Amino acid sequence: MPQRIGFIGLGIMGKPMARNLIKAGYSLTVYSRRQEAVDTLVADGAQGASSSREVGERSEIVITMVTDTPDVQEVVLSTDGVLSRLRAGGTIIDMSTISPTATREIANATQAKGVQFLDAPVSGGEGGAIAGTLSIMVGGEVDTFNACLPIFQAVGKNIIHVGPSGSGQLVKLCNQIAVAVTNLAMSEALIFAAKAGVNLEKMHQAISGGAAGSWQLTNLAPRVFQRDFAPGFMVKLQQKDLRLVLQEADRLQLALPATGLVHSLFNALEATGAGEEGTQALVKVLERLAGVEVTAQI
Ligand SMILES: NC(=O)c1ccc[n+]([C@@H]2O[C@H](COP(=O)([O-])OP(=O)(O)OC[C@H]3O[C@@H](n4cnc5c(N)ncnc54)[C@H](OP(=O)(O)O)[C@@H]3O)[C@@H](O)[C@H]2O)c1
Repeated sequence: MPQRIGFIGLGIMGKPMARNLIKAGYSLTVYSRRQEAVDTLVADGAQGASSSREVGERSEIVITMVTDTPDVQEVVLSTDGVLSRLRAGGTIIDMSTISPTATREIANATQAKGVQFLDAPVSGGEGGAIAGTLSIMVGGEVDTFNACLPIFQAVGKNIIHVGPSGSGQLVKLCNQIAVAVTNLAMSEALIFAAKAGVNLEKMHQAISGGAAGSWQLTNLAPRVFQRDFAPGFMVKLQQKDLRLVLQEADRLQLALPATGLVHSLFNALEATGAGEEGTQALVKVLERLAGVEVTAQI
């Protein structure tokens, strides 16, 4: 087991993932933009750092779980980034969801300095991050993947090497197409039930175990019934991912009509100031069109 792991980005996902690495016995150095996030992990047994560069200096393997492509470029490649100090032979594992094309460029830059790079985005939400049951789709060298497997096993369950650099991010975008379009399907079922005057909880019980069953129906519909729009996965991050999907689809000259529609509906939702709500807030756009609210009291 490598002794020194670095972790950058302690948000909704990164914080519980870092905690699971500590629980698995790893010595962890952490950095995030907000000092209070670092302090929380220090209280859990991590060592705090004040920059990505310091994390690189004190680690053999560094995990990044930040927001978007420019954030990974900053924390890895900038003059104050991990690569400025991580020694040759080290490894960087990016578990954020970012551009597959930029991922290949970052991998080339790290490999030029003798540092291995894996793209290892995840699925399973905040609940999966807390439980340590994330699905992890990994791109990069097989030998590096095998060497890092115990680390992945500390935070996830379904861990698959899917191909060379960038492949993890491409598979993650497949995941996001299915997630977003299923969210719309669920939202349409809920609005239909509300407008028709059906008992929502009974409808939910009746269809969740059959062919309509989905992660979204199980996890997001009950939150809608309670009017709980707190984020597990923020609308603005879902939109970031759909933008990445549609950019790749453009490059491939590919029609993805349902994905384009969900992206457009989320645009309308963001215009109401809901960008930091959870993705279950998609139903609010349909509520406005239908003139009815989906609540458990119906
Ligand atoms: N939430 C989910 O259900 C989910 C599921 C799968 C994958 N993901 C992906 O996982 C990644 C993280 O998601 P999240 O939900 O954990 O987002 P989040 O709560 O916004 O966390 C991102 C964290 O990274 C930090 N950060 C961002 N840019 C940084 C930079 N340049 N330097 C230092 N720290 C930086 C942020 O600091 P601040 O707090 O200061 O902004 C924040 O602590 C995203 O790529 C997302 O798409 C999320």
